[in-house]
Amino acid sequence: MKKVILDCDPGHDDAFAIMLAVQHLDVLGITTIGGNCTLENVTKNALKILEVLDKTDIPVYAGHEGPMVAPLVTAPQFHGETGLDGPDLPEPKIKAKKKHAVDFIIETVMNTDDVTLIATGPLTNIAEAISREPRVAERAKEIYIMGGSVTFGNWTPAAEFNIFVDPEAAYRVFNSGLLVNMCGINLTRQCCLTFEHMQKFREIGTKAANLAADLLEFFIGSSVSVSKLTGANLHDACPVAWIINPKLIKAVPMHIDIELKGEYTRGMTVCDYRHLRGTEPHIDLYRTPTMEPRGEAPNAQGALELDFERFMDLLYETLKNYN
Ligand code: RIB
Ligand code: CA
Repeated sequence: MKKVILDCDPGHDDAFAIMLAVQHLDVLGITTIGGNCTLENVTKNALKILEVLDKTDIPVYAGHEGPMVAPLVTAPQFHGETGLDGPDLPEPKIKAKKKHAVDFIIETVMNTDDVTLIATGPLTNIAEAISREPRVAERAKEIYIMGGSVTFGNWTPAAEFNIFVDPEAAYRVFNSGLLVNMCGINLTRQCCLTFEHMQKFREIGTKAANLAADLLEFFIGSSVSVSKLTGANLHDACPVAWIINPKLIKAVPMHIDIELKGEYTRGMTVCDYRHLRGTEPHIDLYRTPTMEPRGEAPNAQGALELDFERFMDLLYETLKNYN
């Protein structure tokens, strides 16, 4: 099983990332970051989710309250005041560890080979770990993130929420030398679940499936009313599913950098894959690039296509396999 650290800000879709990760991957620890909601609430939510899943052996470490430079921006309109509105979950009996998330990330990556990092919230904890111990970027295998976009944003026309909240942290991670596998909003918008999916979850009958249905019921409601979407995008489940089954997502190598200064574009992931478009309009985007990159050498894999049907097969199987 692949060894991972999951840094997240639960958050309804982060909860699905946790459900997939703890069943299919060797989760060495869950670290939390202020984002969808306050650090206190996202940490409590992570503990609640692990209790429902009977996975209380997985340690949780709280990280930073907010971004490196900018003030914290939260998303109560999507996730509610608690960050996990909808399901009626009891106060957690388990507690987060005393150690800071950044210390856990550094110590684990420095002492364990082949750790893959996963980040489904703002990149503040990851960035500080790399700044304090640059060898983290050499020793970690790679990082999979939900964040950014190869096309348009969701929080602003140019920027996706996780990157927008802490662009300085994202800049640090994308320029660290660590390969970034990016599931941007262009990809995660393809992972749109409706009330039909929610009903199917309810028919499964496991505690995890019931949690999934309750989460979806709230998240569909907020996504439809706020963003006029046709359902709820399970953004954060995508990078985890990608690690579990690499065939679920098609991606291309590209150079990605983070806009920090633009009046209208701060937090934008500027993706350069001109070397793939070239002059042949019919070029198969997924063919190994034969042309030299016209910009800087690729530092990332930009996800472009999700096999949604096979993603849903994985999610159903996962929810059924919880007791
Ligand atoms: O833009 C979507 C991202 O912002 C997801 O990670 C969601 O949980 C929110 O944090
Ligand atoms: Ca998130």
